[in-house]
Amino acid sequence: MISLAGGLPAEELFPLEELAQAYARVFKTGAHALQYGLTEGYTPLRDVIASRMASKGMTVDVDDMLLTTGSQQAIDLVARVLIEPGDRIFVEDPTYLAALQIFKFHSAHIVPIATDRDGMEMDALRRELASGPPKFVYVTPTFSNPTGRVWTRERREQLLALCREFDVLVLEDDPYGDIAFDVDALPPTLYALDAQLGGDTHVIYTSTFSKTVVPAVRSGWVCAPKSVAAALVRAKQAADLHSSSIDQQALYELLTHFDIDAHIATVRDEYRHRMMILHRLLREQPWSGVRWERPSGGMFLWLELPEHVDTLELLQTAVREGVAYVPGHEFYAGVARKNTLRLNFSHSGPDTLQEGVRRLARALQPVLDES
Ligand SMILES: Cc1ncc(COP(=O)(O)O)c(C=O)c1O
Repeated sequence: MISLAGGLPAEELFPLEELAQAYARVFKTGAHALQYGLTEGYTPLRDVIASRMASKGMTVDVDDMLLTTGSQQAIDLVARVLIEPGDRIFVEDPTYLAALQIFKFHSAHIVPIATDRDGMEMDALRRELASGPPKFVYVTPTFSNPTGRVWTRERREQLLALCREFDVLVLEDDPYGDIAFDVDALPPTLYALDAQLGGDTHVIYTSTFSKTVVPAVRSGWVCAPKSVAAALVRAKQAADLHSSSIDQQALYELLTHFDIDAHIATVRDEYRHRMMILHRLLREQPWSGVRWERPSGGMFLWLELPEHVDTLELLQTAVREGVAYVPGHEFYAGVARKNTLRLNFSHSGPDTLQEGVRRLARALQPVLDES
């Protein structure tokens, strides 16, 4: 079975040796490295993250930053702290499936906002804001999961203007921002743009080392306006006291003794290479009515098939052919576009991608012939 389904990074790029050395350094510092730590997380690592954020135009006070068990926990903590049952939460449509699951778990009323290739549609957002502001708007404006799209700077500014007008918070989920194939073409994060506007912060920002280092360290972070940050610390204390401090210390050693930026550049180059291979393989197919946008970063390519194709039904045939993908259905909070699917290009090497597309083509061709 070839899986183009999961959102897994490429294992062959993991900094295995360097991480082993980083952990060894931590153990050499003595038993206190294994003691309970601060709920907010290992302070030296928070400082390093703050200076890495500053280099991307994001100024953060480390007191407003909390280290979390991946950005998944950051989203969950924000939901725990802010959502009362029945609260409206606005999301892009489609959006990150596991965030939808969290919001549902907290009994939110999820409101899908129409989204095009430039980001959320502002007319639709304004209409919903006018009919009842949400607790927050959840967005992944940079290399969305599932679509791989990037919001334009204009849409980002419009979102912030509207959220300030209606005094609504934004939760910016940014796990893929470092995996930009053209770093210079990337608009600033919402967090950076919001700070430029001055006044009260309206953006809660979360990111992670899962995509740039390894997911197994389960290390993400969240920066929030002061009152929210304090509530997040209390919620985290109740949840798990703190995330693994041995992992946080090892990450700190890795980031300070190893050229992480060179590593991230290698990851980017390899993912760009794999994305281009997938893009070329798809273009070589004699398909008609199959559309996609070439991603400019991240890990996913979003495919739209002719309207009559249901990708959930098609998955059974694909699996029989030996290839898996994620049907688009699950990513929609509103009416699902059943003719969509998500392909991952970060985990499979060139040969696997080639064979994966061959199998996908075998599954798809008979359905396309029906149209
Ligand atoms: C959009 C988005 N947010 C958050 C996460 C969670 O990442 P982690 O908990 O590994 O940091 C993912 C993981 O795939 C993601 O795609």
